[in-house]
Amino acid sequence: MLLSHRIVRRTLTDIVAIGAALACMACRQAAADASRARGRADSTWSLVAHPVTAAHAMVASNSTLASGAGVEVLRAGGNAVDAAVATGFALAVTHPEAGNIGGGGYMVIRMADGRTAALDYREIAPLGASRDMFIDSAGHRTRASTVGYLASGVPGSVAGLTAALARYGTLPLSRVMAPAVRLAEKGFVVDSFLASSVRENQELIARFGGRAVFLPHGTPIAVGDRLVQADLARTLRRIASGGSAAFYRGVIARQIADEMSRGAGLITRADLSRYAPVWREPLRGTYRGYTLLTMPPSSSGGVTLLETLNVLEATGPPAPAMSERYLHRVVESLRRAFVDRNTRLGDPAFVANPIDRLTSKEYARALAAAIDSARATPTADFEAAAREGTNTTHYSVVDAHGNAVATTTTLNDLYGSGVYVQGAGFFLNDEMDDFTARPGVPNSFGLVQGASNAIAPGKRMLSAMAPTIVLDSAGQLALVLGSRGGPRIITSVLQVLLGVIDGHLSLGDAMAAPRIHHQAWPDTVWFERHGVAVGTLDSLAAAGYALAPAPFSPGGYVGRVIAVARRGDQYEAVVDPRTSGGAIGY
Ligand code: DON
Repeated sequence: MLLSHRIVRRTLTDIVAIGAALACMACRQAAADASRARGRADSTWSLVAHPVTAAHAMVASNSTLASGAGVEVLRAGGNAVDAAVATGFALAVTHPEAGNIGGGGYMVIRMADGRTAALDYREIAPLGASRDMFIDSAGHRTRASTVGYLASGVPGSVAGLTAALARYGTLPLSRVMAPAVRLAEKGFVVDSFLASSVRENQELIARFGGRAVFLPHGTPIAVGDRLVQADLARTLRRIASGGSAAFYRGVIARQIADEMSRGAGLITRADLSRYAPVWREPLRGTYRGYTLLTMPPSSSGGVTLLETLNVLEATGPPAPAMSERYLHRVVESLRRAFVDRNTRLGDPAFVANPIDRLTSKEYARALAAAIDSARATPTADFEAAAREGTNTTHYSVVDAHGNAVATTTTLNDLYGSGVYVQGAGFFLNDEMDDFTARPGVPNSFGLVQGASNAIAPGKRMLSAMAPTIVLDSAGQLALVLGSRGGPRIITSVLQVLLGVIDGHLSLGDAMAAPRIHHQAWPDTVWFERHGVAVGTLDSLAAAGYALAPAPFSPGGYVGRVIAVARRGDQYEAVVDPRTSGGAIGY
């Protein structure tokens, strides 16, 4: 309680712009009621989404050039999977902070003929990894899980993208990779997003080989420069002609292993040659008549999303967005789902995941019944949680046949570990930080996780990525979405779904609406500044919640969603107004 009062006091001080409203309780209540009626928090909330519509097909990603690569392949006769693979490789060129061939990801596919698939191309811990490798002699987590050579898991992206193409694509790899090769070889003009991304991360980039490309002459590339990536172009050409083997067993494997030996890293040629993506059944769940196809472990994203939605559904008819009742239910549902996520899930090749139970309606009803309708339940009350003690990019593709692909891929933090494979021209991930360094010790996302997600050689680290395809009650494609933001992936995807399904908002309005975040530990409700009415914050504090403006960088925003919706016989795409990128359709 003391903690919550302290945080709320700070919150009120922060919201100086609407300080006048604090003068009297009645004004505050009136403002809150008015905000609720609008479905928005207060008049200073200013995000606006810019939907793009198209009659036949759509590609939406964090880079307009990469979306263009997907559309080029669609127009050449490719399907949504061909286009997704083209977009994925192009993102590795045009969106180097997160697009990658040195990371990993997940893909959920729904073909128009009803076939569905989930592809897990998450990185794995190298064979030389060990449980306590990121804990120093004093028991503290070291920075080695996020920066430098030890931070990288064995990359899965090339294996994943090529496997998806081989099973569901229609065009040769060299054709779908042609736009990416061209963008790397001929270069492209640096826009303001890329320029500021490199500028803000120049310290990390400067420590490793990427400095020659991104900080030529010691200064960051600038708006209007042409960025040519000759080494990356050669690497992409090798993959385009030699397939995944070129990366995992050929010249590129040797370049990765050589880079690792320069910095005492763990990834060897043996690690690379044994890497394989895993085809899985998508998780299938329902929410108020809609069906969700989403990602099973090794990502926690799908399980946690479905568990939260099930609990919410069991709490009764939807409450008005951002009302006290809405926030209370959303936070309590998230809390319970994140406690389960943090303590029970891990790579299914290593630990048993109780997926059926966690995603069952019966379990959700039991969890919902235990929610106190008037008060917060402290996370510490959950025995398991108490005992246990950025950067990603999503893209959504739909084609003229109705095939749909949701893909989320990541290096984890911006530019991953910073390590740049010299001669090969790409960054390696720092995905090892997603493991539990030690139960009870938070990772860089503040996630406090358990032994199920402990480091072991060859194991996939638990993810929060949640590429999701939603079908309406008639079984028709309704939405293709996903996000970046670590655990905020789950909460931001959730809130867009609630806006569309419960709030009956347009996709644009659901994407622009304010969000909150709660991940069980720390036991704080983070809200986007000006996103929750002051009166509502007060009521929640009185109910026992600790609240604070979201501290997430940049902008204090929760998640960055990319979504495509079907609207009648058209597609509508929205790139989160919190991020860069663009959708292109025809
Ligand atoms: O797999 C995960 O959950 C994280 N590595 C995702 C990281 C992320 O989304 C960073 N983006 N801001």
